[in-house]
Parts: sequence; C-alpha cells; structure tokens
Amino acid sequence: MQERGHAAFPQRTIRSFVQRAGRITRAQERALAELWPQFGIEFAPVVLDLDTIFGRRARRVLEIGIGDGETLLELARRQPGADFLGIEVHRPGIGHCLLGIESAALGNIRLISHDAVEVLEMQLVDASLDDVLLYFPDPWPKKRHHKRRIVQPAFAELVARKLKPGGVFRLATDWAPYAEHMLEVLQHDPSFANASPAGDYVPRPESRPQTKFERRGERLGHEVFDLEFRRA
Ligand SMILES: C[S@@+](CC[C@H](N)C(=O)[O-])C[C@H]1O[C@@H](n2cnc3c(N)ncnc32)[C@H](O)[C@@H]1O
Repeated sequence: MQERGHAAFPQRTIRSFVQRAGRITRAQERALAELWPQFGIEFAPVVLDLDTIFGRRARRVLEIGIGDGETLLELARRQPGADFLGIEVHRPGIGHCLLGIESAALGNIRLISHDAVEVLEMQLVDASLDDVLLYFPDPWPKKRHHKRRIVQPAFAELVARKLKPGGVFRLATDWAPYAEHMLEVLQHDPSFANASPAGDYVPRPESRPQTKFERRGERLGHEVFDLEFRRA
C-alpha cells in the first residue's frame, strides 16, 4: 500500500489534512497486509474502471474522509445493491474499515488511501457518481487555517463534475462557522441546487449513520448542520 503522494505529482502546497503517524493496532496492520490487496485501490494517475473493479454496474457512492469507516460500513451493509468507494489518508482508519469489511463480509466497498482531491481529479470519470458524502470534514477553526478547509469553490466544482446530473452532494458538520462557509461556497456554484426549501440546511437525514465525531460534537453541545445539494 502506497502511503504518500506520487512521484509524478509533487504535493500541492495547501492540503486539507496533516499526515499523522497515528497509533495502529496489530489487527489493523494485519488487515492492511492481508485485505488491502482485495479491497484497496492504489493511487495512480490513471482513470479507474469502477464497473470492472466492482464487477457490476450499480449505484455509486463516494465518501470523502471516511475516518474509521463507521458510516461507509453501515451504509454498505444497509444497501447491498449499491457500491461504495471510500477515501481516507489516515492508515489506521483504513485498517479499521478493512476489519469491518471482513467481519461483515461486505463485497461492495473499495478504499483509496490518498488525498481525495487528487483522486477526484485523476482517478474518477466525470458524471460517474450518484452520491458524494462529506461528513464532519476537519473544520480548521483558526482563521489562518481556513484555506485548508476542503470545501472551497474549486473543490465544489470538482465534486459537481464527478456527480451524475441529479446526483447529490451531502455534507454534515458540527462547526457552525464551517456550515456557513459550506453554504456560501455551494450556493455560489451554478452546478448545484440547494435541496433545502429554506435555502439553508436540511433536517438530519435518517439515512446518515452517527459517527464518533458527531457524538463528540453533541457531547460538546455543538449543533449539527446537514447540507444537501443536487447536481443540476
Ligand atoms: C474529522 S474526521 C471525520 C471522519 C468521518 N467522516 C466521521 O464522521 O467520523 C475527517 C477525516 O477526513 C480525512 N481527510 C481530510 N482531508 C482529506 C483528503 N483531502 N483526502 C482524504 N481524506 C481526508 C482525515 O484524515 C480525517 O480522518
């Protein structure tokens, strides 16, 4: 499994994550060694043929920044007829998700361990995704770090391009200023229509499983904001 960057593509200067070494358990190491070859896709500047990778044509859902994979695993369990692609840079998270894939015997998940922006730019075909999920992205609360937030006009444009017409970009955050920023960025993107009749947030979708980041936010008394934008 390739851990960082790609020789042909020097690092962009501003990224939405900081690579942490992180503690990795033995079970996660084992999963990375044994299960990655089956469920992992290496980053390379080559467009992926998802029909071949999943061995079928199905609804395609992409989750960006899966963390431990709690949401991805739960959705894949509930929707065996759909295929799920998860992107995450944190290796222990990938290991954790691989263990979940194994214990639930899921055949409809594949993982990529690389910067989601480069994966979208280089590996995914335009108009190929039904849903893109971005749940509790790092909020980068300090003003000098706002440029690191993954939701930016160019990112919104990129997501819109990869969604099928009618496809949906679903986001959630427990950081109110980031929710406002997301709203501002997405409302100004002409490719998207806000699914909220009030023009702001949508009620918490029942379909969105709760993750530890959301539970943590709730413990801290943070309100959670859900956004839903449909690709025109
Ligand atoms: C705050 S966590 C939330 C994880 C998960 N979505 C949840 O709700 O539990 C954000 C995750 O996004 C990942 N991440 C941030 N920027 C990323 C990028 N450009 N590409 C891939 N993963 C990224 C981080 O490593 C981190 O695990």
